Amino acid sequence: MVKILVPATSANLGPGFDFLGLALELYNIVEFAPEQEWVVTAEGYAATRLAGRSDLLVCQAIRAVYSQVGRELPGARVHLRNNIPDVGGLGSSASAIVGGLAAANTYLGSPLSKPELLQLAAALEGHPDNVAPAIFGGLVAVYRGEGERISTLQIPFPEGIKVVLAVPELKVSTAAARSILPKTVPLADAVFNLSHTGLLVGACFAGRADLLRVAMEDRLHQEKRATLIPGFWTVVDRAYQAGAYGVALSGSGPTIIALTPAEKVSLVGAAMQEAFAGVGVQAKWLSLSVNTGGYILASET
Ligand code: HSE
Repeated sequence: MVKILVPATSANLGPGFDFLGLALELYNIVEFAPEQEWVVTAEGYAATRLAGRSDLLVCQAIRAVYSQVGRELPGARVHLRNNIPDVGGLGSSASAIVGGLAAANTYLGSPLSKPELLQLAAALEGHPDNVAPAIFGGLVAVYRGEGERISTLQIPFPEGIKVVLAVPELKVSTAAARSILPKTVPLADAVFNLSHTGLLVGACFAGRADLLRVAMEDRLHQEKRATLIPGFWTVVDRAYQAGAYGVALSGSGPTIIALTPAEKVSLVGAAMQEAFAGVGVQAKWLSLSVNTGGYILASET
């Protein structure tokens, strides 16, 4: 049995739509061993929806590795321990994909490299910004390199910044949050995002937390998606008033991420939770550190 821990991820960080993602120290666990038939069990978030199904993303990912290396797989025993809230915005689907790929690959003696796993993961997920940090860890920029191959650059995440997440009890599917976006955007908005992503990446390299508030502004997706999240802009304002450096929708939401000085974590978390409560939405908040290194092999027996 192989056991893999896969980090939660927060994609976009404001303007980095579909190409920036950050890995976090909160883990879903995937256990896997080949069997004659599929036996899928689950505990934690979404357990009742997932148990007993062999069509899950994690199973598709396991099959993808076997097929890529030309090996037969009649079935498998898979156990999921889901600690990442599945409301949206924390990369829970990406964690299933990466968990399945990493578990199958490890079981087979690691015939595929991490860059090769990324190609399979991106094909299964559709966009690579959650799967890449779950594989490599830290803050990751994804781009299409030579021959359209999906490639990554790890960006240093400034020391001392904590991640605070407000997780509301709202379910917003990534599909719904993508279909609400226009297919074309005004040139001025595209230029705005280009300049802000440049600033965001530069601020991270320079360790300039003071630039994050401006750098994390976005004009491609947040305004539209905010219409799906009651109180979104109030939560953002309250997090800034409480001392956050930079605040954005986490992935496609409804989770909201605030990059925060360590000494302001509780204030920012409580302020975001209260702001959601003010519009009648229950929310919890989490404080997490950044995962470095991506998924972890916990044990192999
Ligand atoms: N970049 C993706 C989006 C992430 O914003 O739709 C989905 O979690």
